[in-house]
Amino acid sequence: MEIITTSSSISSKVEELKTAGKTIGFVPTMGALHEGHLSLVRIASGHCDVVVVSVFVNPTQFNDPKDLERYPRDLQKDAKLLSETRCELIFAPTVQDIYPEPDTRVFDFGLIDKVMEGKYRPGHFNGVAQVVSRLFDIVKPHKAFFGEKDFQQLAVIREMVRQLKLEVEIVACPIVREADGLAMSSRNLLLNEKQRNSAPFIARTLFESCKFAATHNVGDTVKYVIDSVDATPELKTEYFSIVDGNTLQEVSSWDESDYIVGCIAVHTGEIRLIDNVVYKKA
Ligand code: PAJ
Repeated sequence: MEIITTSSSISSKVEELKTAGKTIGFVPTMGALHEGHLSLVRIASGHCDVVVVSVFVNPTQFNDPKDLERYPRDLQKDAKLLSETRCELIFAPTVQDIYPEPDTRVFDFGLIDKVMEGKYRPGHFNGVAQVVSRLFDIVKPHKAFFGEKDFQQLAVIREMVRQLKLEVEIVACPIVREADGLAMSSRNLLLNEKQRNSAPFIARTLFESCKFAATHNVGDTVKYVIDSVDATPELKTEYFSIVDGNTLQEVSSWDESDYIVGCIAVHTGEIRLIDNVVYKKA
Protein backbone atom coordinates (compact mmCIF):
# COMPACT_ATOMS: atom_id res chain seq x y z
CA MET A 1 0.00 0.00 0.00
CA GLU A 2 1.26 3.43 -0.94
CA ILE A 3 0.29 6.91 0.31
CA ILE A 4 0.21 9.47 -2.50
CA THR A 5 -0.24 13.16 -1.77
CA THR A 6 -0.42 14.88 -5.15
CA SER A 7 -3.09 14.66 -7.82
CA SER A 8 -0.53 14.46 -10.62
CA SER A 9 1.14 11.36 -9.11
CA ILE A 10 -2.12 9.55 -8.37
CA SER A 11 -3.41 10.32 -11.89
CA SER A 12 -0.33 8.85 -13.54
CA LYS A 13 -0.21 5.87 -11.17
CA VAL A 14 -3.87 5.00 -11.92
CA GLU A 15 -3.32 5.55 -15.63
CA GLU A 16 -0.45 3.02 -15.57
CA LEU A 17 -2.64 0.46 -13.78
CA LYS A 18 -5.48 0.98 -16.28
CA THR A 19 -3.08 0.52 -19.19
CA ALA A 20 -2.04 -2.78 -17.59
CA GLY A 21 -5.72 -3.81 -17.78
CA LYS A 22 -6.66 -3.31 -14.12
CA THR A 23 -10.11 -2.11 -13.06
CA ILE A 24 -10.09 0.73 -10.52
CA GLY A 25 -12.47 1.01 -7.56
CA PHE A 26 -12.57 4.29 -5.65
CA VAL A 27 -13.72 5.01 -2.09
CA PRO A 28 -13.76 8.74 -1.26
CA THR A 29 -13.58 9.51 2.50
CA MET A 30 -12.75 12.29 4.91
CA GLY A 31 -10.68 9.95 7.09
CA ALA A 32 -11.19 9.11 10.78
CA LEU A 33 -11.93 5.72 9.32
CA HIS A 34 -14.14 3.13 10.97
CA GLU A 35 -15.71 -0.18 10.05
CA GLY A 36 -18.30 1.62 7.86
CA HIS A 37 -15.56 2.98 5.60
CA LEU A 38 -13.68 -0.33 5.66
CA SER A 39 -16.81 -2.17 4.52
CA LEU A 40 -16.85 0.06 1.43
CA VAL A 41 -13.21 -0.86 0.77
CA ARG A 42 -14.05 -4.57 1.09
CA ILE A 43 -17.01 -4.28 -1.26
CA ALA A 44 -14.83 -2.32 -3.71
CA SER A 45 -12.15 -5.00 -3.64
CA GLY A 46 -14.80 -7.58 -4.53
CA HIS A 47 -15.70 -5.54 -7.62
CA CYS A 48 -12.33 -4.20 -8.82
CA ASP A 49 -8.66 -5.20 -9.19
CA VAL A 50 -7.27 -2.12 -7.45
CA VAL A 51 -8.86 -0.03 -4.69
CA VAL A 52 -7.97 3.65 -4.24
CA VAL A 53 -9.12 5.37 -1.03
CA SER A 54 -9.00 9.15 -0.73
CA VAL A 55 -8.63 10.80 2.67
CA PHE A 56 -9.44 14.49 2.38
CA VAL A 57 -11.40 16.71 4.75
CA ASN A 58 -13.10 18.88 2.17
CA PRO A 59 -13.50 22.45 3.45
CA THR A 60 -16.10 23.44 0.84
CA GLN A 61 -18.76 21.06 2.19
CA PHE A 62 -18.67 22.33 5.79
CA ASN A 63 -21.28 25.01 6.35
CA ASP A 64 -20.24 25.23 10.03
CA PRO A 65 -16.59 26.33 10.52
CA LYS A 66 -16.53 24.77 14.02
CA ASP A 67 -17.53 21.42 12.54
CA LEU A 68 -14.60 21.66 10.09
CA GLU A 69 -12.18 22.64 12.83
CA ARG A 70 -13.07 19.78 15.19
CA TYR A 71 -13.41 17.13 12.45
CA PRO A 72 -11.15 14.25 13.62
CA ARG A 73 -7.93 13.78 11.59
CA ASP A 74 -5.36 10.98 11.98
CA LEU A 75 -3.78 9.82 8.70
CA GLN A 76 -1.35 7.39 10.39
CA LYS A 77 -4.20 5.57 12.11
CA ASP A 78 -6.24 5.56 8.87
CA ALA A 79 -3.27 4.12 6.95
CA LYS A 80 -2.86 1.40 9.54
CA LEU A 81 -6.53 0.38 9.25
CA LEU A 82 -6.33 0.42 5.46
CA SER A 83 -3.15 -1.68 5.49
CA GLU A 84 -5.33 -4.51 6.81
CA THR A 85 -7.60 -4.30 3.75
CA ARG A 86 -6.95 -4.73 0.03
CA CYS A 87 -6.58 -0.96 -0.46
CA GLU A 88 -3.58 -0.44 -2.73
CA LEU A 89 -3.38 3.36 -2.93
CA ILE A 90 -4.26 6.07 -0.42
CA PHE A 91 -4.71 9.50 -1.93
CA ALA A 92 -4.24 12.12 0.81
CA PRO A 93 -3.91 15.50 -0.92
CA THR A 94 -3.62 19.01 0.52
CA VAL A 95 -6.37 21.62 0.13
CA GLN A 96 -4.03 23.56 -2.18
CA ASP A 97 -3.65 20.51 -4.43
CA ILE A 98 -7.41 19.93 -4.77
CA TYR A 99 -8.29 23.61 -4.99
CA PRO A 100 -5.34 25.49 -6.54
CA GLU A 101 -7.95 28.17 -7.15
CA PRO A 102 -11.29 28.54 -5.34
CA ASP A 103 -13.96 26.31 -6.88
CA THR A 104 -16.78 28.63 -7.91
CA ARG A 105 -18.94 26.03 -9.64
CA VAL A 106 -22.59 26.09 -8.62
CA PHE A 107 -24.53 22.87 -9.24
CA ASP A 108 -28.26 22.61 -9.68
CA PHE A 109 -29.65 19.29 -8.53
CA GLY A 110 -33.29 20.37 -8.77
CA LEU A 111 -35.41 19.29 -5.81
CA ILE A 112 -33.01 16.57 -4.59
CA ASP A 113 -30.75 18.90 -2.61
CA LYS A 114 -33.40 21.40 -1.49
CA VAL A 115 -34.75 19.14 1.26
CA MET A 116 -33.42 17.55 4.47
CA GLU A 117 -29.59 17.91 4.63
CA GLY A 118 -29.72 20.38 1.73
CA LYS A 119 -32.20 22.55 3.61
CA TYR A 120 -30.45 22.45 6.99
CA ARG A 121 -26.87 22.55 5.67
CA PRO A 122 -26.99 25.14 2.88
CA GLY A 123 -24.12 24.75 0.41
CA HIS A 124 -23.16 21.34 1.79
CA PHE A 125 -24.05 19.30 -1.29
CA ASN A 126 -22.57 21.87 -3.64
CA GLY A 127 -19.27 21.36 -1.78
CA VAL A 128 -19.66 17.56 -1.91
CA ALA A 129 -20.27 17.74 -5.68
CA GLN A 130 -17.26 20.03 -6.14
CA VAL A 131 -14.87 17.69 -4.36
CA VAL A 132 -16.27 14.41 -5.69
CA SER A 133 -16.28 15.64 -9.30
CA ARG A 134 -12.70 16.87 -8.81
CA LEU A 135 -11.64 13.54 -7.27
CA PHE A 136 -13.36 11.59 -10.07
CA ASP A 137 -11.51 13.73 -12.59
CA ILE A 138 -8.16 12.99 -10.92
CA VAL A 139 -8.65 9.27 -10.20
CA LYS A 140 -10.93 8.39 -13.16
CA PRO A 141 -12.18 5.18 -11.51
CA HIS A 142 -14.37 2.56 -13.17
CA LYS A 143 -16.55 2.29 -10.06
CA ALA A 144 -16.99 4.44 -6.95
CA PHE A 145 -18.47 3.25 -3.66
CA PHE A 146 -20.69 5.27 -1.33
CA GLY A 147 -22.53 4.37 1.88
CA GLU A 148 -26.30 4.40 2.23
CA LYS A 149 -25.72 6.01 5.64
CA ASP A 150 -25.51 9.30 3.71
CA PHE A 151 -28.63 8.52 1.75
CA GLN A 152 -29.17 11.95 0.24
CA GLN A 153 -25.47 12.29 -0.66
CA LEU A 154 -25.77 9.12 -2.72
CA ALA A 155 -28.74 10.59 -4.65
CA VAL A 156 -26.83 13.84 -5.22
CA ILE A 157 -23.76 11.99 -6.52
CA ARG A 158 -25.88 9.89 -8.89
CA GLU A 159 -27.52 13.07 -10.21
CA MET A 160 -24.11 14.76 -10.60
CA VAL A 161 -22.77 11.78 -12.56
CA ARG A 162 -25.85 11.91 -14.78
CA GLN A 163 -25.59 15.67 -15.38
CA LEU A 164 -21.83 15.66 -16.06
CA LYS A 165 -22.15 12.44 -18.13
CA LEU A 166 -19.28 10.85 -16.18
CA GLU A 167 -18.22 7.31 -17.00
CA VAL A 168 -18.17 5.98 -13.46
CA GLU A 169 -20.51 3.43 -11.97
CA ILE A 170 -21.84 4.39 -8.54
CA VAL A 171 -22.24 1.47 -6.14
CA ALA A 172 -24.39 1.87 -3.00
CA CYS A 173 -23.20 0.03 0.14
CA PRO A 174 -25.31 -0.84 3.22
CA ILE A 175 -25.11 1.02 6.55
CA VAL A 176 -22.71 -0.50 9.08
CA ARG A 177 -23.81 -0.17 12.70
CA GLU A 178 -22.31 -0.57 16.16
CA ALA A 179 -23.56 -3.58 18.16
CA ASP A 180 -26.09 -1.29 19.86
CA GLY A 181 -27.49 -0.10 16.50
CA LEU A 182 -25.83 3.32 16.28
CA ALA A 183 -24.82 3.99 12.67
CA MET A 184 -21.03 4.23 12.55
CA SER A 185 -19.78 7.77 11.97
CA SER A 186 -16.51 9.62 12.41
CA ARG A 187 -18.48 12.11 14.51
CA ASN A 188 -19.31 9.39 17.08
CA LEU A 189 -15.77 9.95 18.37
CA LEU A 190 -16.84 13.42 19.49
CA LEU A 191 -19.72 12.21 21.71
CA ASN A 192 -19.37 12.39 25.48
CA GLU A 193 -20.48 9.43 27.60
CA LYS A 194 -24.07 10.61 28.13
CA GLN A 195 -24.51 11.47 24.45
CA ARG A 196 -22.99 8.14 23.39
CA ASN A 197 -25.42 6.30 25.66
CA SER A 198 -28.43 8.10 24.19
CA ALA A 199 -27.35 7.99 20.54
CA PRO A 200 -28.35 4.30 19.86
CA PHE A 201 -31.93 5.35 20.60
CA ILE A 202 -32.03 7.02 17.17
CA ALA A 203 -31.60 3.70 15.32
CA ARG A 204 -33.75 1.84 17.82
CA THR A 205 -36.60 4.31 17.19
CA LEU A 206 -36.21 3.98 13.43
CA PHE A 207 -36.39 0.17 13.66
CA GLU A 208 -39.41 0.34 16.01
CA SER A 209 -41.07 2.76 13.59
CA CYS A 210 -41.03 0.07 10.88
CA LYS A 211 -43.38 -2.03 13.06
CA PHE A 212 -45.43 1.06 13.94
CA ALA A 213 -45.74 1.93 10.23
CA ALA A 214 -47.46 -1.40 9.50
CA THR A 215 -50.58 -0.17 11.33
CA HIS A 216 -50.30 3.64 11.10
CA ASN A 217 -50.23 6.28 8.40
CA VAL A 218 -47.18 8.32 7.31
CA GLY A 219 -48.10 11.40 9.38
CA ASP A 220 -48.51 9.37 12.59
CA THR A 221 -45.23 7.55 11.92
CA VAL A 222 -43.38 10.86 11.55
CA LYS A 223 -44.85 12.06 14.83
CA TYR A 224 -44.02 8.76 16.55
CA VAL A 225 -40.34 9.02 15.57
CA ILE A 226 -39.92 12.70 16.47
CA ASP A 227 -41.72 12.34 19.81
CA SER A 228 -39.76 9.19 20.77
CA VAL A 229 -36.36 10.68 19.90
CA ASP A 230 -37.13 13.99 21.59
CA ALA A 231 -38.25 12.17 24.75
CA THR A 232 -34.69 10.78 25.08
CA PRO A 233 -32.28 12.83 27.19
CA GLU A 234 -29.54 14.54 25.13
CA LEU A 235 -31.37 14.11 21.77
CA LYS A 236 -33.24 16.70 19.72
CA THR A 237 -34.59 15.92 16.26
CA GLU A 238 -33.70 18.47 13.59
CA TYR A 239 -35.87 16.83 10.96
CA PHE A 240 -37.41 13.47 10.23
CA SER A 241 -38.83 13.00 6.74
CA ILE A 242 -40.43 10.01 5.09
CA VAL A 243 -39.52 10.31 1.42
CA ASP A 244 -39.60 8.64 -1.97
CA GLY A 245 -36.18 6.92 -2.13
CA ASN A 246 -35.56 8.15 -5.68
CA THR A 247 -36.84 11.74 -5.68
CA LEU A 248 -36.28 12.41 -1.94
CA GLN A 249 -39.58 14.26 -1.82
CA GLU A 250 -41.89 13.61 1.15
CA VAL A 251 -44.69 11.12 0.63
CA SER A 252 -48.05 11.44 2.32
CA SER A 253 -49.14 7.81 2.01
CA TRP A 254 -47.43 4.42 1.94
CA ASP A 255 -48.97 3.75 -1.49
CA GLU A 256 -47.34 6.77 -3.09
CA SER A 257 -44.11 4.98 -4.03
CA ASP A 258 -42.62 1.48 -4.03
CA TYR A 259 -39.38 2.83 -2.49
CA ILE A 260 -39.86 4.69 0.80
CA VAL A 261 -37.14 5.77 3.23
CA GLY A 262 -37.22 7.64 6.54
CA CYS A 263 -34.29 10.06 7.02
CA ILE A 264 -33.39 11.70 10.30
CA ALA A 265 -30.96 14.29 11.64
CA VAL A 266 -30.55 14.62 15.40
CA HIS A 267 -28.60 17.07 17.53
CA THR A 268 -26.85 15.86 20.62
CA GLY A 269 -25.05 18.81 22.19
CA GLU A 270 -22.99 20.37 19.42
CA ILE A 271 -22.84 17.16 17.41
CA ARG A 272 -25.25 16.30 14.62
CA LEU A 273 -25.97 12.68 13.70
CA ILE A 274 -27.87 11.32 10.69
CA ASP A 275 -29.42 7.94 10.01
CA ASN A 276 -32.14 6.39 7.85
CA VAL A 277 -34.32 3.34 7.50
CA VAL A 278 -36.01 1.75 4.48
CA TYR A 279 -39.78 1.23 4.99
CA LYS A 280 -40.47 -0.19 1.57
CA LYS A 281 -38.41 -1.29 -1.41
CA ALA A 282 -39.97 -3.18 -4.29
P1 PAJ B 1 -17.20 10.33 5.05
O1 PAJ B 1 -18.20 10.85 6.02
O2 PAJ B 1 -15.80 10.08 5.50
O3 PAJ B 1 -17.77 9.02 4.42
C1 PAJ B 1 -17.10 8.37 3.38
C2 PAJ B 1 -18.00 7.27 2.85
O4 PAJ B 1 -18.24 6.31 3.88
C3 PAJ B 1 -19.38 7.82 2.42
O5 PAJ B 1 -19.77 7.17 1.21
C4 PAJ B 1 -20.27 7.41 3.58
O6 PAJ B 1 -21.63 7.24 3.22
C5 PAJ B 1 -19.63 6.08 3.99
N1 PAJ B 1 -20.00 5.73 5.36
C6 PAJ B 1 -19.81 6.48 6.47
N2 PAJ B 1 -20.32 5.85 7.55
C7 PAJ B 1 -20.86 4.69 7.10
C8 PAJ B 1 -21.55 3.60 7.72
N3 PAJ B 1 -21.79 3.58 9.02
N4 PAJ B 1 -21.95 2.58 6.94
C9 PAJ B 1 -21.72 2.59 5.60
N5 PAJ B 1 -21.07 3.58 4.95
C10 PAJ B 1 -20.65 4.62 5.69
O7 PAJ B 1 -19.18 11.19 2.98
C11 PAJ B 1 -18.10 11.76 3.02
O8 PAJ B 1 -17.06 11.36 3.82
C12 PAJ B 1 -17.78 12.96 2.15
O9 PAJ B 1 -18.94 13.71 1.96
C13 PAJ B 1 -17.14 12.60 0.80
C14 PAJ B 1 -18.08 11.77 -0.07
C15 PAJ B 1 -15.81 11.86 1.03
C16 PAJ B 1 -16.83 13.91 0.02
O10 PAJ B 1 -15.98 14.73 0.75
